[in-house]
Amino acid sequence: MLKHLIAAALLPALAAPAAALSRKQLQDVIVQCATCHGADGVSRTDEIPNLDGQHDRYLYNQLAAFRSGKRPHKQMRVMGRRLTDAEMWAIAEYYSALPPN
Ligand code: HEC
Repeated sequence: MLKHLIAAALLPALAAPAAALSRKQLQDVIVQCATCHGADGVSRTDEIPNLDGQHDRYLYNQLAAFRSGKRPHKQMRVMGRRLTDAEMWAIAEYYSALPPN
């Protein structure tokens, strides 16, 4: 019983951990995405989706799906494979906080 209570109290924190990356760490990751998606989340070609202003949970879910291969895409699989959970959340928070264009 106590175990369940503790698990319930911890779950929200596990589901959406606050960005655990430093500014520098976040920049180093975003730089890798920016060539295609832009640092401002506005993509450079119409074959690449914009990310600015997108929901953070949606972005996180897509990155997790690329990483696992559930959402198949060659380039994004390669990008996703290198990302940690903390990085994926930080990226999701970063792009979702940008004003949509
Ligand atoms: C070489 C170009 C390229 C790079 C680099 C790249 N992406 Fe992508 N990304 C794409 C393309 C193309 C798609 C569309 C995938 C599809 O058609 O399913 C995409 C899709 C996505 C999506 C899904 C968007 C949606 O609306 O469903 C997210 C999220 C994403 N990328 C995040 C990132 C992040 C974060 C990085 C850096 C770690 C990154 N991408 C690096 C090309 C790239």
